[in-house]
Amino acid sequence: MKPIQPGILAPIPPLARFLTFGLLPEAGPGPSLRRLAQSVDPALSVVGLGRASVLALGVDVPGLRDFPGGTGKGLEIPATHGALWCWLRGEDRGELVLRTRAIDAALGPAYRLVDIVDAFRHGEGRDLTGYEDGTENPTGANALAAAASGGPAGLQGGSFVAVQQWLHEFARFDAMSRDEQDASIGRRRDDNEEIDDAPSSAHVKRTAQESFEPEAFVLRRSMPWAEGPRAGLVFVAFGRSFDAFEAQLNRMMGLDDGVTDALFRYTRPVTGGYFWCPPVKGAQLDLRRLGLD
Ligand code: HEM
Repeated sequence: MKPIQPGILAPIPPLARFLTFGLLPEAGPGPSLRRLAQSVDPALSVVGLGRASVLALGVDVPGLRDFPGGTGKGLEIPATHGALWCWLRGEDRGELVLRTRAIDAALGPAYRLVDIVDAFRHGEGRDLTGYEDGTENPTGANALAAAASGGPAGLQGGSFVAVQQWLHEFARFDAMSRDEQDASIGRRRDDNEEIDDAPSSAHVKRTAQESFEPEAFVLRRSMPWAEGPRAGLVFVAFGRSFDAFEAQLNRMMGLDDGVTDALFRYTRPVTGGYFWCPPVKGAQLDLRRLGLD
């Protein structure tokens, strides 16, 4: 089996924290990353590196690029990048706070914590609009094939993750009839059945993984988030490259055929970043590709 970080394949946890770190330009990230590798358990804390970290180390990770922000008809896809990203998985909010502090301490002084998003599982894996999320995720060997890249030791088992925080506008969603809501997703909320004659703007019509050439499978691990009155979804998709995600996003934006995803009627991304999640060796992150073994 490819040595992927085990937290990527594990089911969605009850609670999570998403951390984004920036890098200080004058600081070499090597010692901080070594300390991080020694202190995190990749089954509990999934770690991804942004291009800024890789460039600062003077190394190359084939396939790692910047998040492609852009615009479509009446919509904006921001790119906010980030030098390092952690997905802390857990069950106890206090423990996640303490783990955040430990990771922050390990990463100092080269990195600074720029964003924390607290997330949670809702129901049996629903978005806050009430729709089940993750139904068409690949499982078992297919999940590994979708999420883990190949290549020589140090790259094999690595994964490329696209992360976007989406902010829901619930008043706009609530103003739609149930039929309109169902049509915007392309599935019925009550029984999660796909609607065969859903409009081409329906989210699952835009993103149907088998409809792309080549097929565009990703492993989604999105989780709802909330802070005060603001709430939405942290969209998280692991791939063996960024290509599948990018093909899906382009179609959601209407870049292929001018049809934009109906989701944009009531939700929009406020961040966007790409990260490379290094493989593991035993129970530790394998940083040899970064020259840090
Ligand atoms: C707030 C943002 C989003 C929400 C609420 C959302 C929700 C959903 C829901 C309810 C489904 C149907 C059930 C399932 O198969 O999981 C779905 C499917 C899917 N979504 Fe999203 N999604 C969001 C953003 C995105 C983005 C940004 C992408 C990729 C660029 C994406 C890719 C997919 C894919 C690949 C599927 C499965 C399509 C298939 O093969 O049938 N989603 N999403």
